[in-house]
Amino acid sequence: MKLKIMLAAAVLMSSTGPGMSAEDPIAVRKAIMKNVGAATGAGAKMAKGEAEFSAATAELVLRTMNTASLGFGELFPAGSETGGKSIASPKIWEDRAGFNAAVAKFASDTAAGIAAKPADLDAFRAAFGAAASNCNACHKAYRIKQ
Ligand code: HEC
Repeated sequence: MKLKIMLAAAVLMSSTGPGMSAEDPIAVRKAIMKNVGAATGAGAKMAKGEAEFSAATAELVLRTMNTASLGFGELFPAGSETGGKSIASPKIWEDRAGFNAAVAKFASDTAAGIAAKPADLDAFRAAFGAAASNCNACHKAYRIKQ
């Protein structure tokens, strides 16, 4: 699992070069969110006690979330409102300041989680819970309900 996330992160970094993001921001932002989804799934398993706690995996999960937040707001340029199976809400373009604030909060909550260096399950649950509360909050406001 750990390796899978690292590989996904490596693929992601190579796919978020200026060329690709300029050409296809929808595909890039979806790929980033998919990667975050995988990391969050791994984190949730540990938080629920379904997987053994590992400080290294905890850090990787939080770092994957944090990396996803960096530059995420720039992947919604004018003209990328629809198409490519995007489920982004028009609200992103109507309330850019609110969306940027949601991205910034995701970045700071995940950075705080990394800085806390969770060394046991309780510490990880606190850091992961704070970081993961951003998923629903942003999706509710800025993603189309399916
Ligand atoms: C600041 C806003 C924001 C935050 C925070 C956020 N997301 Fe998203 N997410 C989006 C938007 C917008 C989309 C839709 C992108 C599109 O389809 O164009 C999305 C799409 C997704 C998708 C669907 C990807 C696909 O294949 O279409 C998954 C999975 C996902 N997010 C998981 C997460 C998880 C897990 C977290 C928390 C760790 C998270 N997101 C945090 C905004 C956010």
